[in-house]
Amino acid sequence: MNETRHLTTDPQSTFPQLILALSTAMDLDEKVKLYHGWQVAVWASKMAEEACPQQLTEIFYAGLLHDIGGIGLSDHIIHWPRLDDQLKNPEVRSHPYRGAQIIRMIPVVFKGLHHIADMVLEHHEWWDGRGYPNGKSGDEIGKEAQLLRAADAFDVYRRLYPEPVSESVVSALDRLASSQECSSQMVHLLKKNLGREDPSPLLRDEAALAELIRQMQDRLRPLVLQDVSDTLEGVLLLFAKVIDAKHSYTAGHSERIALYSSQIARALGLPDDQVREIRYAGYLHDIGKLSVPRSILDKPGPLDEEERRLVKNHPRLTIEVLKFFPALRGLAQIAGRHHERWDGQGYPDGLKGEEIPLGGRILAVADALDALTSDRPYREIGTFEEALQDLRTNRSKQFDPRVVDATV
Ligand SMILES: [Fe+2]
Ligand SMILES: [Fe+2]
Ligand SMILES: [Fe+2]
Ligand SMILES: [Fe+2]
Repeated sequence: MNETRHLTTDPQSTFPQLILALSTAMDLDEKVKLYHGWQVAVWASKMAEEACPQQLTEIFYAGLLHDIGGIGLSDHIIHWPRLDDQLKNPEVRSHPYRGAQIIRMIPVVFKGLHHIADMVLEHHEWWDGRGYPNGKSGDEIGKEAQLLRAADAFDVYRRLYPEPVSESVVSALDRLASSQECSSQMVHLLKKNLGREDPSPLLRDEAALAELIRQMQDRLRPLVLQDVSDTLEGVLLLFAKVIDAKHSYTAGHSERIALYSSQIARALGLPDDQVREIRYAGYLHDIGKLSVPRSILDKPGPLDEEERRLVKNHPRLTIEVLKFFPALRGLAQIAGRHHERWDGQGYPDGLKGEEIPLGGRILAVADALDALTSDRPYREIGTFEEALQDLRTNRSKQFDPRVVDATV
């Protein structure tokens, strides 16, 4: 439990980690971590060091978050490499705008925040005017957004070509140079950075990329939170909204889980620290769901075996993502246990009874309560009374009896 103290006593350093965690989670594609946001942050920042060093911090975070508006798409945005296809799909076409609107809601005192949102808004504008959302051209497009466009296109094109890495880099740069989406100056700048040292480790090796990201973060201006305790809560709430935006029927789900679970924790007489920790885990518990295709989450009929496997894997991904970041590590074992059952029949690990951390047992009850009283494609909406009855029926089977007693 000690590890979570980081989260409550040092929110200033927690916030950048939350942004990184969110970017990682956004880029989970089924089981693979794509690190698209990290890649764009790295290459755009390297270009910025030369083109506009005073904007380095903004460009770095804009790179991490540039596709945040694409979170509800059924297929990750990097699988849409062709402009014509992007323009035909209204959800793809609006992702820069949606992303900018989400970023404007991040509660930090950071002058550059609106600037980050503007960069994200323009990250698909093309030099020749064929891009979106506004069809701007040439230097009507902000310089920083031009950097993002170049880094973004480079990373998407590079993935279209198979190994070896050195050849995929050349092919991607050729494609970028001939597509007219960036100025020749941008292509030149990117080329120069890629030529400086062998980029292969950064394009292939997760640890090398993570190390570079850490080094870069040390050089950025700090993002100052508005008011330490309130704002951390505000940031987590925003993340909960982003997570729930993945599919149509879960609006407010993570927020309600956070609320229900902290009420239950309080009814059990837990100390304030622990109540807060459980609430924070509630906001993030379904972060692993960002990797489950929306077509599966919204499917009205029964799932096939492979689809079920993907859905059941989401708490494991929640654990993986949160564990990766020191400030969030302590939440992982609470957040990722919300589908374990008291009788050992749950997932992902079939933990039993008190093997499941108390916070996880509380989240399980809160999650069931919300699922039973919400509109789901496979069932009718239950009343709260019916849901409580269901909890009593499953006391000592699905749920910890103590937690059920504190709830009903
Ligand atoms: Fe994008
Ligand atoms: Fe992108
Ligand atoms: Fe879940
Ligand atoms: Fe959930």
